[in-house]
Amino acid sequence: MAYVVTEPCIRCKYTDCAAVCPVDAFREGPNFLAINPDECIDCDACVSECPVNAIYPDDEVPEEWEDYIELNDRLSQKWTTQVINEAKDPLPDAEEWAEVEHKREYLKEEWDDEAAVSANS
Ligand code: SF4
Ligand code: F3S
Repeated sequence: MAYVVTEPCIRCKYTDCAAVCPVDAFREGPNFLAINPDECIDCDACVSECPVNAIYPDDEVPEEWEDYIELNDRLSQKWTTQVINEAKDPLPDAEEWAEVEHKREYLKEEWDDEAAVSANS
């Protein structure tokens, strides 16, 4: 088993979760965190830290977000060097995006894309 970050995290990235993980299982993407399922020890500490209730045990992930189980596995490998184990400022519009549903299309997988977007704006 492992814990899974789901859709409410997208474009919020509050990061309170990462600060409490005893095994540094969180990996950081541009606008989402993923949990490495091979490192998570199912301690449950991160769940109550998330202001938008984005984290679930993999056997309790809501049906509409079941693909996030595979997504956390894949993105935590992709972002394998981007370990995050302390809280930092949430994304600038986190409060607004916390209210938004169906954010999957906004998930950014590439840090390079983010840099390119910043450079061009
Ligand atoms: Fe880390 Fe525990 Fe959350 Fe797993 S359940 S990601 S070990 S804080
Ligand atoms: Fe995301 Fe919640 Fe953590 S918004 S970064 S899962 S505290």
